[in-house]
This record gives sequence, structure tokens and C-alpha cells, in this order.
Amino acid sequence: MKGILLHGGHGTRLRPLTHTGPKQLLPIANKPMSQYCIESMRESGVKEIVIIIGGAGSNKVKEHYGNGEKFDVKISYIEQDYPRGIAHAIRLCKEFVGNDKFLVFLGDNIIQRPIIDYVRNFTDSDAAASILLCEVDNPSRFGIAEVKNGQILRIMEKPKNPPSNLAVTGIYLLTPKIFDIIDRLKPSWRNELEITDALHMLLEEKNKIIYNMITDYWKDTGTPDDIINANGAILEKMTPYFHARKESNVSVEGKVMVGEGTVIKSGAKIIGPVIIGDNCTIESDTIVGPNTSIGNNSKLAKCQISNSIVMGDCNIESNIKIKNSIIAYNSTINYDPKEHDSKVFLLGEGTRITL
Ligand code: G1P
Repeated sequence: MKGILLHGGHGTRLRPLTHTGPKQLLPIANKPMSQYCIESMRESGVKEIVIIIGGAGSNKVKEHYGNGEKFDVKISYIEQDYPRGIAHAIRLCKEFVGNDKFLVFLGDNIIQRPIIDYVRNFTDSDAAASILLCEVDNPSRFGIAEVKNGQILRIMEKPKNPPSNLAVTGIYLLTPKIFDIIDRLKPSWRNELEITDALHMLLEEKNKIIYNMITDYWKDTGTPDDIINANGAILEKMTPYFHARKESNVSVEGKVMVGEGTVIKSGAKIIGPVIIGDNCTIESDTIVGPNTSIGNNSKLAKCQISNSIVMGDCNIESNIKIKNSIIAYNSTINYDPKEHDSKVFLLGEGTRITL
């Protein structure tokens, strides 16, 4: 089975993090979030993947995934000129897909359980599509399915009055039948060709759509809070390792992953789940965790940081308590005794600060 990974869009709700690159490359537990999708596809037997790119910094996607060799899959790329919707992106892949059933994965969807069973069910079925549903608290933010007696009755995009709380997750198993449907779709109120509208049309034209429920973790990482939440969930499931140098009198509790070349100085405290990348320095009087990822080559001193992501090449040297935060690559937070009663900022467009 071939796979399509959607990696475009503007990621507006995640600005300023998305000014320089696509949101799907933002790291969760020190790994680009779309890499979890690639791994999930590979583990379910999908070895040939096309990545749909578009928007700011999409060259970074090519730089990271290349021809896929490093990830043990074959990867090619198709550019979407503008975010015209998921169905539009899928339509661009008609030639690539050919006549077989295929899998579509949205690169901002994080799912923890393997999808191989769903893929097998679909391969063995005569259904025109298979979707994965997950109960959510805020159904008007998602595509929603109305289900009765095990049958899908309706599928709709972000309804104002949702008939259920069953979100259509961004993992779709499809047949080439969908292409003919997409050719007949009209753009939605947000001027996109919606996959939910295409699926609904499939239903209306008497095609069978099967579904499975995701009862464990699934997240569409649309907002900073979603990313922080996904980071905690992934860290919780990781297998601990410790390749760093730890001085005496360092307190380490819970699940902790620490990379090579990192030094944790005497007096520091690490409260898992925490991942710290390679070549980092955690100075004494620093508390890291829980639910925190620190990217490679970062230095932390005198601070307390929890429930946060520091992407890498960062320098935080200040007597400061940080929580629920995302700090992008190459950022600095330091202390200047001359500025003790004022704060000094150099902020990118769309920055958010709570003091
Ligand atoms: C898209 C789909 C929506 C689906 C969601 C899952 O929403 O349109 O049906 O529930 O992905 O992640 P969007 O991210 O475009 O708001």
C-alpha cells in the first residue's frame, strides 16, 4: 500500500513558531512530529510515501526526509501551491496512487497505537474508505461523524451543532474512487476542498465506509497547548536511557532520556518524564521537568522548567520559572544585573508572553 503524508499549510495558530518552517517539523520529544507519522506508516507496511509540501520553509521537509533512505521508506514530493484543502492535496496524488488502496496521514496528527490492524481490516474489506474516530471534548473543531448501530450516517466538517463527539482523525484509508468524488467537490466556507465533504459524498452515493475507534491517545496538534500535551504523552511512553555524564548529588526521578555529550552538574534536579538531547549542559540550581523536552546543544542554568519544549541551541541562564512554554531554536533568556528592575525583549512577530 502507498501512503500520502500531508505536510503543507500555514500553521497560523502556531505563529511565531511557524514563520520559519512547517508546523509538522516542530519537535515533540526531540523529533519532528511528522516523523512519528512516517514511522507509523512504515510499521503498517507502507514503504512508498509521497509528501505534500507547501508554505513557509517547505525546503526543510526535503532536507530532513530526503529520499527516505534514512527512514527505511521511499519518499517523493509534490508541491501544493496554496493550502486548498486536504481533498485537493489528495487529488494531486492520483498518478502516484494508481489503482490501489492507499493511506493518507496528516503530518500534525499524533497517534500512539500501531495502525497495522486498521490497514489490514481495510485491505481485506470491500469498503470504499475507512476512517478512525476518536471521542473529543470540543467537536466543533473537527470533522465529525454521526454513527448509528455501527453505521456511519453523516460526516461533516466543524459543525456548529455537532450531532456527536466523534472526531474524524487525520488518518484516512481510501480507494481511488475518491478522486472522481474530489473532482466534483465544491470548496467549503473556508475555501478548501474538504476531505469530510468527499467522504460524505461517498456515503451519499451508496459506498461503504467502515470505521474504527481510537480509544487511546490521539491529538491534532493545532495549538501550542496541543503540542505541549502531545510532548508529555510521547515522553511518558519512551524507554529511558542515560548516555550523559552526571556529577554526584544530581537528583533524577521518573522516566528520563538523556543524550550523549550532555553534562548534568551537581545540585541539578531532573523530574521525569524528561528528554534532554546531546551536548547539553544542565547547571546546578536547575530543575528540569516533568513533561519537558530539551533539544541538542542547549544550556540551562538557575531556572526551573516544566511542561515545556526547548527546541535546541538555546541558552537559558536566569533565575526564572518557566512552564507550559515552547522555546524555538537558538533562543536566549539570560540575566543582566544592570537590568534588574526591567525586562529586555527581542521578539519575533506573533510572540506571546505571560508575565
Ligand atoms: C482537518 C480536517 C478535519 C479533521 C482534522 C484532524 O482539520 O479537516 O476533518 O478532523 O484535520 O486532525 P484542520 O486541521 O484542517 O482544521
